[in-house]
Amino acid sequence: MADPDSRKGSRYADEAALDYLAKVHTPHDEALQAAFEAHERHGIPPIQVGPAEGKMLALWLKAIGATKVVEVGTLAGYSAIWMGRALPEGGKLWSIEHDPKHAEIARENIALAGLSDKVEVRLGDGVEVLEELTTEGPFCAVFVDADKERYDRYGRWAFANLRSGGLLLGDNAYLFGQLLADDARGAGMRRFHEEAAAQMDSVCAPTPDGLVVARKR
Ligand SMILES: C[S@@+](CC[C@H](N)C(=O)[O-])C[C@H]1O[C@@H](n2cnc3c(N)ncnc32)[C@H](O)[C@@H]1O
Repeated sequence: MADPDSRKGSRYADEAALDYLAKVHTPHDEALQAAFEAHERHGIPPIQVGPAEGKMLALWLKAIGATKVVEVGTLAGYSAIWMGRALPEGGKLWSIEHDPKHAEIARENIALAGLSDKVEVRLGDGVEVLEELTTEGPFCAVFVDADKERYDRYGRWAFANLRSGGLLLGDNAYLFGQLLADDARGAGMRRFHEEAAAQMDSVCAPTPDGLVVARKR
């Protein structure tokens, strides 16, 4: 998720340094730029991952030779384009989105990226569509970036449906500063962390809002 503060990656990198690094490491082509700026044209929230997180997702998928990937939370397709481009010929990303407007915008951006054959946007609720996808598994990676209340459920599905060596990735793992809150969201996100750590090799990378990376043994 990119909020206005999300570029404060480090006290050693100011705005100008981050702009320089983005140009060097994560330049956007037309499709990535269209997805990244979709909120300006379509009035949807600007809550996609940042360019560095998008590229990290892509590099992790390449590093494990991922061929089958699931994303929960498509928005305008920005992270889906990064991940779709990391897949080999014949690879597939299923990206789940419950908002029809977001799904339509994402499909346009994915088509612009030339990825319509590799990236399928499934319209529906995360928990329900994951159940439908079970027969397509096992999967190489699952990226969770949707409703924060149910990260624990998404994490359990991922653990059950990942191949050995597969990755569970979860954005907003700091829960916008509310990780330790005494409420259902905080408790659900803490269960997500604790179950990932108990069952897998895991870390919470210190991105602007925390990114869990967990490998199934
Ligand atoms: C943070 S955005 C996803 C950003 C996207 N992964 C990216 O980085 O480009 C979260 C998306 O999840 C969707 N969403 C929220 N709850 C959902 C649910 N229960 N099932 C499916 N999608 C959901 C929202 O409509 C929104 O588009």
